[in-house]
Amino acid sequence: MHDHVQLLMMLAELALRAGQVPHEAASRVGRPGPAGTVRVPFRADGYAVVGMDLIVNVNGQINLCECNGSNMAATSFGAPDGDVARAEHQVAAAGPRLAALARAVVLIAYAAGTGAIAEIMARAALVCARISAERPCDLIDASVVPGAGVSVVVDSVERIAAQLSLADGRFFYQGIPVASIANPNVVPALVRRGIVGRDGPHYRCDTDVFHDGRLLDVVHDKAAQQRLAQGTGITPLAWRECGDLKSCFAAVLAFQRQGLRSVGKMNGGSGGCGIEFFDIDDDEVTVARKLARMERDARRKYEGPVERSMWPVRLFEFAQSTLYPVGDAHHLWDMRVQCLIRPGLLDLSFCGIRLCPGPFYGSLDRSSVLSNVTGRSPDLVTTRSPLVDNGRPTEHMRLGGVGEAKLGEIVVACTRWCQSAWDACEPT
Ligand SMILES: Nc1ncnc2c1ncn2[C@@H]1O[C@H](COP(=O)(O)OP(=O)(O)O)[C@@H](O)[C@H]1O
Ligand SMILES: [Mg+2]
Repeated sequence: MHDHVQLLMMLAELALRAGQVPHEAASRVGRPGPAGTVRVPFRADGYAVVGMDLIVNVNGQINLCECNGSNMAATSFGAPDGDVARAEHQVAAAGPRLAALARAVVLIAYAAGTGAIAEIMARAALVCARISAERPCDLIDASVVPGAGVSVVVDSVERIAAQLSLADGRFFYQGIPVASIANPNVVPALVRRGIVGRDGPHYRCDTDVFHDGRLLDVVHDKAAQQRLAQGTGITPLAWRECGDLKSCFAAVLAFQRQGLRSVGKMNGGSGGCGIEFFDIDDDEVTVARKLARMERDARRKYEGPVERSMWPVRLFEFAQSTLYPVGDAHHLWDMRVQCLIRPGLLDLSFCGIRLCPGPFYGSLDRSSVLSNVTGRSPDLVTTRSPLVDNGRPTEHMRLGGVGEAKLGEIVVACTRWCQSAWDACEPT
């Protein structure tokens, strides 16, 4: 028998198919049993959600590709009941605000065109169900005027950002106080609209309203993510931060002189947008062409003056994962670990492995090195889940070279990383 979460997702997928909207059939992904989540003690007095995209590299070290915030998808693959824990965690984090407000909205934003739309809609329904256990709550999109109680609004980043204003640092949606926002990429959209200001990596707004909580700035500061990895068991990647194209160019060349391939990433991008890979023998014309494409792609995807939000661009050492066997070929991969921080506790769930769609033979073609491209044919061919069964790695995990001992190291490393991030992000 299907549980109600899976039914919710199937229903969303049916509706999307009827409307001919491309999407991933997330309801069909394998999920772990009840012992798929690891709970550890944690020094925190509040809530935050992050998702760590990890690899195990060819030398057996753990690297962090990036740490995501409440924009991340594919988390429903990490637990038998999908995103129930994530949805309840978001409502718990918003608890004091919801209790203080007679009328409020909870915003769940997604990147337009995302393949994960069915999963996101199912999660929004779970958030609505959790709130409506206590008080009236409806589930709407941005074309509908919120009602008298609580409304959960699920829509694209741009359509939600278009309705937001800021007063005394607090967010209002159509003039109604906002109790919670899932998706930190709403902030760069508001920066482009001139609604939120920035001090370097710090956004001048009420960051606490985001499900990311006090980790919001860190979710976009991928250089800080590597700094925080020091001493956690995650081997930090070399990085350089660049304020303009000229310094990006110099940074790529500096990596090349060290014999390193590199990856450039725009600030506040997602879904593989504004990401470029630079090989050791790329000549200067190729480097310049790739940098120009990074800016062009960012401009194409994001509305408004993208130069306000895309800088700094950060360059990272390229981290090559173990080779994951797929038929006769081998693919690069990364693994998503959802981390739900709550007072005194951290819950880690192993969501899935994403394989790059094309095989890896050494060259840095995008299909061989980029595992997450919004707009690729939205199927689940490159997803592997469940990763953990009864506390032990499944075959999916073992094929990436992660056995019991490495899984234990990953648990410790994620816990330490989250703790150092939490401690470093003390609210001002
Ligand atoms: N340092 C790295 N080394 C090798 N591949 C990387 C690195 N960083 C990212 N990637 C690849 O690029 C993809 C997109 O990068 P990511 O930082 O996750 O950006 P996005 O914000 O678009 O998700 C990753 O899923 C991974 O496949
Ligand atoms: Mg990513």
